Amino acid sequence: QQKNRVEDLLSRMTLEEKIGQMNLESPSIVGGFDVPFEELIEMMTDGRISQEEFQKIMSTATRDFHEEDIRAGLVGAMMGDDPVKANELQKIAVEESRLGIPLIMGFDVIHGLRTVYPIAIAEAGTFDEELFERTAGIAAKESRAHGIGWNFAPMIDVARDCRWGRVSEGPGEDAYLASRFARAKIRGLQNDRTSSENYVAACLKHYVAYSACESGRDYNTTSMSISQLHNVYLPPFKAAVEEGAASAMASFNDLNGVPCTVNPYTLRELLKGAYGMDGFVVSDANGIKECVTHGIAEDDRDAGIQSANAGLDMDMGTHIYKDYLKEAVESGAVSMEVLDDAVRRILSVKMWLGLFENPYVPEASIAGYAGKIPEQHAEVALEAAKKSIVLLKNEGNVLPLSKKQKISLVGTLAASEEEIIGAWAMSWRNEDCVSILEGLKNSGADVSYYPCGGPEGEINPDEIAKACGEGDVVVAVVGELVSMSGEASSKANVELPGKQREMLSLLLEKTRAAGKKLVTVLMNGRPLALGWEEEHLPVLVEAWHLGVQMGNAVAAVLTGEENPSGKLASSFPSVNGQCPIYYSHPNTGRPGSKSKFTSRYLDAPFDALFPFGYGLSYTTFAYSELKSEEDKDCLRVSVRVKNTGDRKGTEVVQLYMQDVTASLVRPVKELKGFSRVELEAGEERTVNLELKKQDMGFYNNQGEYVLEDGLFRIYAGGNSRDCLCAEIRVNF
Ligand code: IFM
Repeated sequence: QQKNRVEDLLSRMTLEEKIGQMNLESPSIVGGFDVPFEELIEMMTDGRISQEEFQKIMSTATRDFHEEDIRAGLVGAMMGDDPVKANELQKIAVEESRLGIPLIMGFDVIHGLRTVYPIAIAEAGTFDEELFERTAGIAAKESRAHGIGWNFAPMIDVARDCRWGRVSEGPGEDAYLASRFARAKIRGLQNDRTSSENYVAACLKHYVAYSACESGRDYNTTSMSISQLHNVYLPPFKAAVEEGAASAMASFNDLNGVPCTVNPYTLRELLKGAYGMDGFVVSDANGIKECVTHGIAEDDRDAGIQSANAGLDMDMGTHIYKDYLKEAVESGAVSMEVLDDAVRRILSVKMWLGLFENPYVPEASIAGYAGKIPEQHAEVALEAAKKSIVLLKNEGNVLPLSKKQKISLVGTLAASEEEIIGAWAMSWRNEDCVSILEGLKNSGADVSYYPCGGPEGEINPDEIAKACGEGDVVVAVVGELVSMSGEASSKANVELPGKQREMLSLLLEKTRAAGKKLVTVLMNGRPLALGWEEEHLPVLVEAWHLGVQMGNAVAAVLTGEENPSGKLASSFPSVNGQCPIYYSHPNTGRPGSKSKFTSRYLDAPFDALFPFGYGLSYTTFAYSELKSEEDKDCLRVSVRVKNTGDRKGTEVVQLYMQDVTASLVRPVKELKGFSRVELEAGEERTVNLELKKQDMGFYNNQGEYVLEDGLFRIYAGGNSRDCLCAEIRVNF
C-alpha cells in the first residue's frame, strides 16, 4: 500500500519537485556578526567563545529557513533541533506546498540529544548490546520530541588510528564489535514503532573507510585492498543494512582514488545492490562540491551528475542538485530512472516514519523537555557511564577509596560540565550535567577541589603542593578538552596534552614524599599514548567523555559503589609512533619480538600498552578448561570462568579465532563472540559461546566470501592478549 502511495505521488510530481526532495537544507545565517557561520562554530568548538556566547550571538542573528523554497516544494529535508521551528516549517511544507509532502528533519544525535550518554568508543567498551539499544531508544524518543525524524547516526567507522579525532564517535577498532554495535543501534533507533513518537530513521555513516584516512588526518585519502575493505570496514554497514537501516551518509574521503560521494561500486553495487538497502543515501556536508577539489569532477555540474549517477540520493548543503539536476535530466546526462529511484527512496522513508499522518511534534512532547531531562533517561545515562569506565591499573589496590579518606580533587577538567559531554553533542543543558566534583559531593565523599592545571595553559605548583598537603588521597583528573577529538580534530601527538604530565609528575613526587596515594582519572576522546603514565603512576582509570552523568559514574567507581567492568574498544599505544595500532593484525613473516630482525621498533614496544578488550576489576577472574567442539553448523566453545577475588564483579568473556593457514594472510586474532558474565565472589561458571561456521570465512580480493577448510585456533579470555588457546580442524 505504501508502495502505491509513493508511486502515485511520484507520478504527480514535477521535475523541480522531485529534485526538491533530494535537497537537504540547513538554516543559513544571514547576519548579526561579522565572521562566517562555520567560523563561529569553530570558535565555539575550540573555546574562543563559550557556548553561552555562541547562543547569545545566534539568538540575535537572523536566519533564513528557506520558507519560500519549502513552499515551492524545493526542499525535502532540513537540519535542526528546535521543535517549535520544526512545526512552523512543517506547516509550510504540508499545508502550503502544492503536494503537501512533509519535510524530514535531520540532526546529529550521535550519543544522545538532551540526555547525552558516553561517546561511542566508551559505550562500545561495555560490550552490552542491550544497553546500546536502550540508549539509542532514548535518543530516538528525545529526537522526535524535538522534531527530528532522522538521526545522523550510528557512526560505525572501524577506527584503528587514534590520531584521527573521530575515533571518539565510533565503536572502536574491531569489525565484529562494531557490527554488533551497529545492529543494536539500528534496533534502538528504528524498531519501537508502537508510536511515531518513538522511532527515527537511522543514517549509517560514514560510508565508507573514512576512518582509514592516511596518517590519521581527517578527510585524507584512503587506499586499501578489496579484501581489507570487505573484512574490516564494510561489515558494520552490511550488518546495519540487514537490520533495516533507513539511510546512509557517503563519506568525504576518496577510496582507492574514487571519492565515496561519487563511488558507484560502494553505493550502487554494494550498498544498494549486494546488501539490498532500500533507504536513501545523503552526501556529507558539502561533499558533492568537494568532488571538484578532489579532482574527479570538472565543475559543480559534473560533480552533481556523477553523484546522482553513482547513487547519491540527497545533497547536503551545496545546492548543486537544486541548481544543476534539472538541466542534467533534460540533457540526458542523468536519467529520469535515476531521479525517480532517489525520490522513491526518500518518500518511502518519510512514509515509513509516519510523517504524512503525523507531521508535527505534539505540544505535550515539546513541553516534556522544557525543564530537566526525565529521571528514567538520566538513570540510563548513569548506567551507561558507569559501565563504560575502564580500570587500567590499580597497583596496591588503592581503589576503591574508603568513605573516610579525605580527597583532594585536582585538575580543571574535574569541575567542568562542558568537558564531560564529548564531541558531537549540541543540545545538552548545564542543568542536566554532573561534573566529577559534583558527583563526588553527591556520593557523600569528603572532597576539596584544587584546579592546579588542565589540558591547556600553565600549572600551579602552589596549588599542587596544597592539594597534596591536605588530602589523604589525591585524585587527579587529566585528559583532553571536548574540542580535541571529533571532526577536524586529528592530532600528531596523542600524549596527554599541555603540561598535564608535568603536573602528574609533581603530584607523584609530593604524594610520595607525604606517603599519600595518587589516583589518575583520564577524561579523553581517543586512546592516548600512555607509556609514561603506565610506568610511573600507580592507578589509572579511563573515564572517557561519559556524558551528562559522568560525575556520578566516576564517583561510583572511585568509591567502590560500582565495580568497574568496562573494556577497551581500542588499543592504547605506549608512544605516538606506534599509531596505527590494533590487535587484529597479520602475523608477518617476522613477528615483532626482542630480536633485531623482526617487525619491531628500536625505541618502542611492538605490542599495545593496553590491548583491545582490556580492563580490570576490583576483583579478579581466572579462566580454565577451554573446549571447542564441532557441531553441525557451528563450533561450541566453552570455558570455565571463576571470580577469584572477594567481591562480586562482571567480566566480559571474549572469544577470538585465528584461521591459521589460508589463501590470504589472516589476522593473529579476530573477535567472534563475547558474553558479559556477572559472578559472585568465589563463583565459577561455564560460559558457552557459539561460533557459526558461516562466520569463520573471509573476503578475498575479488570481494567474495570464502570458507576454507583447515586448522583454526580458538581463544578465550578477558582481553585480546591474555587468552587460553585450543586448536581445531574444520571442514566446511
Ligand atoms: O553528520 C555530520 C557528519 O558526521 C560530518 N559532517 C557534517 C554532518 C552533518 O552535520
